[in-house]
Amino acid sequence: MRKFVFGIALSTFIISCNFDTQFAKGKSLYIQKCQSCHMDDGSGLGSYISSLQNKNMDFYLQICTISKGKGNKNLVMPGFKLTDVEYANLINFLNEKFGNNKVYLPAGFKNMNTLCKGS
Ligand code: HEC
Repeated sequence: MRKFVFGIALSTFIISCNFDTQFAKGKSLYIQKCQSCHMDDGSGLGSYISSLQNKNMDFYLQICTISKGKGNKNLVMPGFKLTDVEYANLINFLNEKFGNNKVYLPAGFKNMNTLCKGS
């Protein structure tokens, strides 16, 4: 029984550490590639740049927006070609830290750059 409890405590610890590492990597990607437009807290800039807070976007839309970019008459967001791991880290960071749905891309989500081709 003690071993069992210890096992649960240990795996909870490992899982939360993994997420902490993912969020940290996602955050540094966000700082490098997104923060200059969307601000450090994701609040954006009024009608010029969308807020990323409380969005609850689904994964498909998030991946497509990031990989293809998006524009309005004032400003264009470029598309970013990231690796699968980078998409996962970035999206999980956004969903955790900006008041979003706290739904995380499962590990092993593959070929995200090809999801939106032709659409
Ligand atoms: C050059 C400035 C710029 C950069 C850099 C940028 N964005 Fe954007 N982003 C925009 C603009 C402008 C829009 C709004 C387009 C519109 O009005 O439809 C937008 C829209 C979005 C949306 C859609 C929001 C919605 O409500 O539909 C998401 C998600 C998003 N950006 C995420 C990101 C992420 C993640 C990064 C970094 C990888 C990033 N953006 C980098 C300017 C930028």
